[in-house]
Amino acid sequence: MRKWLLAAAAAAILAAPVMVPVSASADPMIIKFSHVVAPNTPKGQAALKFKELAEKYLPGKVTVEVYPNSQLFGDAKEMEALALGDVQFIATSLSKFGKYTHKTEVFDLPFMFKDMEAVDRFEQGKVGQSLLHAMENRNYLGLAYWHNGLSQMSANKPLIKPEDAKGLKFRIQQSDIIAASYAAVDANVQKLAFSEVYQALQVGTVNAQENTWSNIYSKKFYEVQSDFTESNGRVIDYMVLVNAKWWNGLPKDIQAGLSKAMKEATAVNNQIAEKLNADAKKKIMDSGKVKIHELTPAQHAAWVKAMHPVWAKFTDKIGKDIVDAAVASNNPKTN
Ligand code: SIN
Repeated sequence: MRKWLLAAAAAAILAAPVMVPVSASADPMIIKFSHVVAPNTPKGQAALKFKELAEKYLPGKVTVEVYPNSQLFGDAKEMEALALGDVQFIATSLSKFGKYTHKTEVFDLPFMFKDMEAVDRFEQGKVGQSLLHAMENRNYLGLAYWHNGLSQMSANKPLIKPEDAKGLKFRIQQSDIIAASYAAVDANVQKLAFSEVYQALQVGTVNAQENTWSNIYSKKFYEVQSDFTESNGRVIDYMVLVNAKWWNGLPKDIQAGLSKAMKEATAVNNQIAEKLNADAKKKIMDSGKVKIHELTPAQHAAWVKAMHPVWAKFTDKIGKDIVDAAVASNNPKTN
């Protein structure tokens, strides 16, 4: 009987799961960072810099896996995946949050910012910083803004006057304000995920688009459009987002290391964005495949005038205080 009891006790010990305390675990935490653009863009480079710095500041504690080009999740799924914890970091275009908050739609108002310095002043100012928390009630927390740049229009004909856009079908991001901007010049739109744009332009599902030079170059849109207009019509920047509950539940040392890496990767992103866009524009010009049209001040003013009525339609929804702060950022002295 005693022998039998000893054997049973030994078997029970062997079958028991081995409980390793979390802090003693040898495995680094895997952090997935998913985005939709190519690595040779401002966002692509910044995500890689974040990986490098996070792994440097938290050696053996975290491994950051970066998934570019919608490899892991495309536009339609990345917010959902963040909510479910299938990915830990995303850096989503500011024009894709309309489903969650109207506040960030201020970035979509046509010709809101005269240049990237104005965008930066707004993002770093009190109101811009408050928008990083605009989706916290949905458990999304913004850690930083990353610049890309201003958008340029293209079609298979010159777009010089607002009337030139009449009847065209623009691929746009998921934004009602962008849709209204093109409706104001009698154009049609189709909201499409970024990963679908090249093919849609190629087969003619759409025949016009707007994006930054770095996105246009890295995704080869210049192979399937003949004429580009330097319109600088809208900012395409990003909010780096985490799942708020996940972030707030991280061990303090991990959160501090990731915050430091994010701060430095953000600085790098914002230093290189302008140059990457200028280089991309030059490569597109050098390809000899397309014409790039620069607008005269009067031509530019005509586009601004044609699209401006959109502001009145959306200002109350966004919040007048937010729109006013964005307008004020165009004047360096009032910021
Ligand atoms: C991006 O830059 O993340 C994509 C923007 C777009 O969908 O056009």
